[in-house]
Amino acid sequence: MPLKVLILGANGFIGSALTEAIMARTDWQVFGMDIADNKLGEVLNEPRFKFVEGDITINREWVEYNIRKCDVIVPLVAIANPSQYVKDPLRVFELDFEANLTIVRLCAKYKKRLIFPSTSEVYGMCPDPVLDEQTSNLVYGPIHKQRWIYANSKQLLDRVMFAYGVRDGLDYTLFRPFNWIGPRLDDIHEAKEGSSRVFTQFLANVFHGLPIRLVDGGRQRRSFTYIDDAIECLLRIIENKDGCASRQIFNIGNPHSDVSVAELAKAIVEGFRSIPEYAHLADTAKIETVAADVYYGQYYQDIQVRVPAINAVREKLGWVPTTDFNTAIRKTLQYHVRRGDFMPSEKG
Ligand code: UGA
Repeated sequence: MPLKVLILGANGFIGSALTEAIMARTDWQVFGMDIADNKLGEVLNEPRFKFVEGDITINREWVEYNIRKCDVIVPLVAIANPSQYVKDPLRVFELDFEANLTIVRLCAKYKKRLIFPSTSEVYGMCPDPVLDEQTSNLVYGPIHKQRWIYANSKQLLDRVMFAYGVRDGLDYTLFRPFNWIGPRLDDIHEAKEGSSRVFTQFLANVFHGLPIRLVDGGRQRRSFTYIDDAIECLLRIIENKDGCASRQIFNIGNPHSDVSVAELAKAIVEGFRSIPEYAHLADTAKIETVAADVYYGQYYQDIQVRVPAINAVREKLGWVPTTDFNTAIRKTLQYHVRRGDFMPSEKG
């Protein structure tokens, strides 16, 4: 019998890329729910993909029924944009924590395999130069720095799943994305600042002729990871050959693409220059600096360094990232060229 996979949040950045890859490369069936379907495109026509448009917090019966019916549950519904953590922290708590706790409990009740997105943010301001799933401490700021409500929510869920694993044998895998980037991360047509994570924000700013703004000068670093590499790793986790991913925590990131936000900005401008259709945008691109409290407000606190240890994924799953950071930028821009987004003729 082919594996039945339930993906909640199937229209998101990870959900849509994962559904596409499952359809292209496996014989698995996918049952999906999301509040929209705009990122799913052609895959909606696949007979092995059953999609329902809806909110998981409202369609509770559908969710419970499908958890019982499926073999593997991948709950991807969450707010994952730092500007929302500071603007609407209670919504982050309600959706990312409360709504997902319900799912975790149902997986425990029906003894289902659960593949859950933790986050690189759980490490917070941990000073370790390389963040290790087993040994690194999880370090957050004071309560008034509301940014940490996301990391706290995710961390407590990690602990709840671990405890279910110890007590009841819950079969879970926690994966921690390290700044996954690529097409459809956020809406490239939305130019408003704070609407996207940094990668899409910088691309959108160049496309819309707005200056790229480096928060506090852009010295903070991230390890940017191309979505196709990350999805390859998720497929291995779902496949779970000989139980290799059961009750494991995995960082999924590219330690070789550890760059500062200022370096990201420069590389993006150079990426534009390398694409004939967009080269003119590189000439007009501007980079400036903005203070964090001006950009995000007083409740924000940044993370300065974030490099994943990847020995666990390498040893258990045989996975290593293969797409370097400049290739990731070029591939994303080529995706927009193929779609005809922001072509010179559009500007009239
Ligand atoms: C992200 C989000 O919390 C989640 O998407 C996810 O859990 C996690 O990290 C991850 O993917 O690993 P963060 O990396 O801080 O957090 O989010 P971004 O919005 O992508 O910001 C990255 C850095 O760029 C921050 O230091 C931010 O201050 C800076 N930034 C952002 C700018 O300099 N300019 C901008 O216009 C936007």
